Amino acid sequence: MARKIIIDTDPGQDDAVAILLALGSPELDLLGITCVAGNVPLPLTSKNARVICELAGRTDVKVFAGCEKPLQRRLVTAENVHGKTGLDGIELPDPTMPLQEMHAVDFIIETIRAEAPGAVTLCPLGPLTNIATALQRAPDIAPKIAEIVLMGGAYFEVGNTTPAAEFNIHVDPQAAEIVFKSGIPLVVMPLDVTHKVLTTRARVEAFRALGTPVGHAVASWTDFFERFDMAKYGSQGAPLHDPCVIAYLIRPELFEGRHINVEIEIQSELTMGMTVADWWRVTKRAPNAMFMGRADAEGFYQLLTERIGRL
Ligand code: BDR
Ligand code: CA
Repeated sequence: MARKIIIDTDPGQDDAVAILLALGSPELDLLGITCVAGNVPLPLTSKNARVICELAGRTDVKVFAGCEKPLQRRLVTAENVHGKTGLDGIELPDPTMPLQEMHAVDFIIETIRAEAPGAVTLCPLGPLTNIATALQRAPDIAPKIAEIVLMGGAYFEVGNTTPAAEFNIHVDPQAAEIVFKSGIPLVVMPLDVTHKVLTTRARVEAFRALGTPVGHAVASWTDFFERFDMAKYGSQGAPLHDPCVIAYLIRPELFEGRHINVEIEIQSELTMGMTVADWWRVTKRAPNAMFMGRADAEGFYQLLTERIGRL
């Protein structure tokens, strides 16, 4: 039976590739896409999610708009990375499929309540505002969630948004703290992993060579996204962060990590949103997350290209 998931997202080119990977994978049953403010403001993320579904011909997917700003802090966006629209790199038509009327947080709560215990996996690809709000408003859902597999944080790679913090956690550290303290099984894809799955010319061209509109869009997005990271890190390509979450659900053996304690810094402005990961197990703090550290990049891109090719 396909695994039931909700993707919570702020598209974003790499979010887009993650959504397409899920849509191309029969192992996953996408119950809905919930949008949050992050890479760009909410009106754009909730529009972009529908642009992506329509590109894949999946106008049946339910897309919900959620929280427009972090729990306590002002919204920080990342147009410098993702462009003005959040999906710069290729021009796609405005969506015609509607946005659902229900609020994303209500959809998350109602879906988990309606499904059997342990049936639903949450896949956050952006700031954790929607997820934390759902947990605050409906604490009864926590024990019913199978697990939360999220992209966020860093230990060895430290920060991409501040010297200490990764974007998704930095934007809403209070929300991250709620999720990391929730007791729900967590699998974390930090920058330590995502910076190991870099796009290369050959990998981007493999998307283009699929010869499909979806393959062409993925190649154009990764081309756009690449420029920023190549200039910043001097690397040969860009990390495809968010698809790591979906790839893990399909082929967990592509990733290796440690079950350790991870705390979120919410006091110091200097290190706000840092994921303090006890990788070396130097404290007695109880483990609360499977924190990934390694990825099989070749296997990851093979999976991605094959699944994108199905759309
Ligand atoms: C994360 O931040 C966003 O810019 C990406 O979409 C990804 O989710 C990487 O730090
Ligand atoms: Ca994202």
